[in-house]
Amino acid sequence: MEVVASAPAKVILFGEHFVVYGTPAIALAIDKRAYVRAENRSDQRLYIRSLNLHSAAYFEDGTFKIEKGDAKEARPKFEPIKLAVEKILKKHGDNVGVNIEIDSSIPIGAGLGSSAAVIAAAAAAVGELLNIKLTKENLFHITCEGEKVVHGTPSGIDSAISVFGGTLLFRTDKGFNPLDYVMNIPIVVGDTGVERPTRVQVEKMREIREKYPKVVEPIMLAAGEIVVTAIEAFKKNDLNTLGRLMNINQGLLAGLGVSDESLERLINAARKAGALGAKLTGAGGGGCMIALARNEDLEHVLKAIHRAGGKSFVARNVTEGVKIEST
Ligand code: PMV
Repeated sequence: MEVVASAPAKVILFGEHFVVYGTPAIALAIDKRAYVRAENRSDQRLYIRSLNLHSAAYFEDGTFKIEKGDAKEARPKFEPIKLAVEKILKKHGDNVGVNIEIDSSIPIGAGLGSSAAVIAAAAAAVGELLNIKLTKENLFHITCEGEKVVHGTPSGIDSAISVFGGTLLFRTDKGFNPLDYVMNIPIVVGDTGVERPTRVQVEKMREIREKYPKVVEPIMLAAGEIVVTAIEAFKKNDLNTLGRLMNINQGLLAGLGVSDESLERLINAARKAGALGAKLTGAGGGGCMIALARNEDLEHVLKAIHRAGGKSFVARNVTEGVKIEST
């Protein structure tokens, strides 16, 4: 038997980094997905193949063995998948072997939640394969556990979007609320092509917050107010205000040191080309930026980001979270 599951990428519109410390954030699922195929094996190996990383490896009796590609690159990406699959095998009772194949259109390590989408899709596919009933809540918790392996203290926002989809208002203490009234948000994503570990970026923020608490605290409050104001703007479909809030949010993130030259170049190009607002999305320090633009300006902004050296694409928000594609 073979099962294919998929889960979406996300962009954080407002509040990344600050969300780790309890400030609200807004994120949405976009139309790029990770696909994971799971099938039974006759032995007890967990065999993982990534078409994107051009690598294949297996875990057996606590050992890791690379068969194709670079072990140093593959292992940290495969470990969280192993952890998620193990959680499901525990529910199953028997230690059975599984083949996992990953085929994802989400750029890796770029702030679009690729690791959470892969973990969520892998967990859903293996659950279905082994006939284990997993609720979305179960999948959310398993994905969060996997994300902890990826970057230590994740807020859970990536896992929430990859599992539940849609547009979410997220808080670490209160959980998440769907913002169902958010309609179509015209966004251009620009990928700097600079891969960076989220863990390092989160650490940078922790360090500056610990060193200058009185300076950083009001910035955190401002970030929270941005989200409150954004919710009102969504209700009125006020794109101008949303764009301005994105620019302010970017100013706060840059001030705290999590932006970088590659991002600033794309952000400036987007603004010059008529974007209503632009900011980094995710952990920063490379990775992706997003620009909000009126539909008639999308193409112009897309090209401007491309000319400035970024890989750009128009992203549409989608409602579907993790799902079984075929059995
Ligand atoms: O860059 P990503 O997709 O790993 O997103 C990280 C978002 C942070 O707010 C920086 C960390 C988190 O866990 O919320």
